Amino acid sequence: MTALTLSTAGASGLRADAIVVGVAQGPKGPVVAPGAGAVDKAYDGKLADVLETLGASGAEGEATKLPAPSGFKAPLVLAVGLGAAPEKGAGYGAEALRRAAGVASRALAGAKKAAFALPLDQAADAAAVGEGALLGAYSFDAYKENGAAASRRGSAPLAEVVLLGGKPRDRAYKAAVERAVAVAEELNRARDLINMPPNDLNPAAFAALAQDAAKANGLKVQVLDEKALAKGGYGGILGVGAGSASAPRLVKLSYSHSKAKKHLALVGKGITYDSGGISLKPAGHNETMKCDMSGAAAVFAAVVAAARLGLEVNVTGWLALAENMPSGSATRPGDVLRMFSGKTVEVLNTDAEGRLVLADALWAASQEKPDAIVDVATLTGAMVLALGSRTFGVMANDDAFRAAITVAAEEVGEESWPMPLPQHLRKGMDSPVADIANMGERMGGGLVAGLFLREFIGDGITWAHLDIAGPAFNEQGPYGYTPKGGTGSSVRTLVRLAELTAAGDLG
Ligand code: BES
Ligand code: MN
Ligand code: ZN
Repeated sequence: MTALTLSTAGASGLRADAIVVGVAQGPKGPVVAPGAGAVDKAYDGKLADVLETLGASGAEGEATKLPAPSGFKAPLVLAVGLGAAPEKGAGYGAEALRRAAGVASRALAGAKKAAFALPLDQAADAAAVGEGALLGAYSFDAYKENGAAASRRGSAPLAEVVLLGGKPRDRAYKAAVERAVAVAEELNRARDLINMPPNDLNPAAFAALAQDAAKANGLKVQVLDEKALAKGGYGGILGVGAGSASAPRLVKLSYSHSKAKKHLALVGKGITYDSGGISLKPAGHNETMKCDMSGAAAVFAAVVAAARLGLEVNVTGWLALAENMPSGSATRPGDVLRMFSGKTVEVLNTDAEGRLVLADALWAASQEKPDAIVDVATLTGAMVLALGSRTFGVMANDDAFRAAITVAAEEVGEESWPMPLPQHLRKGMDSPVADIANMGERMGGGLVAGLFLREFIGDGITWAHLDIAGPAFNEQGPYGYTPKGGTGSSVRTLVRLAELTAAGDLG
């Protein structure tokens, strides 16, 4: 894990592998961002010109390396693009800082220590730069043979980040860095879980990791195995897991604070591998389906982060874990499942499995009558078609709650968009044999899935559903602080929701 500290040291005297500075797009070419004063001065105030000569414009994503000026202990200066320079008097936006810091960490993979001389006018800037640096430094190499050789090739994550120009003794700065570290470390843990191959991360293995983390962070944890699920009548989770050699689990993680006034329940879809089951996915659609537990990973990370931050709120995380496989014992299209809520579901397509495991977990969460329930799931391909690969959809049974969630997401730098739950789509799920079918009209498939989930929310409970099928797994190249593979989508939004709930500003 990359270390993060604040320092009052000057850029020139610091022993490091690189000094990171910011460069932005000004009206007449690149401009050096605040924080880089000492470096610019050592270049006779001509750093912007030097960068322009090297082809830098200040655009987002840009990373330009140049030798450090004489007298500097660090050998290298790395200039990262911040995008358009802000208007006079305005600061750089948090997301621009986060992304630039992420680009810097990635560009410095293989280095030991880097000093970040980016704008740190306020504590929030330190939080953004710190978070971006830690998230950008992430790499998943647990399965690469010979990690030492990999690090010689320069792919080991940047080991140490020092933020210059902040106020290390100021409480707000200290708290900002502490929060950034807790959130980024837990988010990176979620990424690890998503990237883990499904032959190693089955439901029991996931549950065991949750138990370890619960112990380490003072959380209560309860794991229902297949016997307990059968005894309790969890027909949805059992039905989805029926075809797999690895039995399903329902994990409940509880964080509580003695001064808590509110209770937030988080529910995550945890399909450790989605083959589609008997309604088997064709080749081309199953290669990335280890990511189908991203919702559970996000919930897991958010509950642990809430505990590490000591938030004054009770947060319960429910991980609905199963592997969706075809076999002689698998649920067939045509089967009827009796769910934990007592409702019956005709399974028309075994590939619409996420809503089945979530339905049981949502009903279980409802029994505790929390102030609000938020579920997170890689639920539908339709949501990816609608919103693309970087934006998650937000549906809810309460318009104000849905709006509050999109605002919270924006605050932490996650892209989301409100989606409706049109009542007329419900009749497409009418079943001749059961209370509801697990599939409806193809058009608006993401909304149909949301309508299905709504049937399993206890009366009067505020609920929202985040469909992260698009942003959960990055199949393209890395950008900003987002790596290839598992992204940790929605973790920061969930943590923000827990903070807002603690403050009494939500639900
Ligand atoms: N896990 C998939 C959804 C998915 C698709 C996640 C692409 C990430 C990327 C889900 O279980 C699924 O298969 N959904 C079906 C539902 C359909 C059969 C009603 C879908 O979207 O095609
Ligand atoms: Mn599926
Ligand atoms: Zn799925």
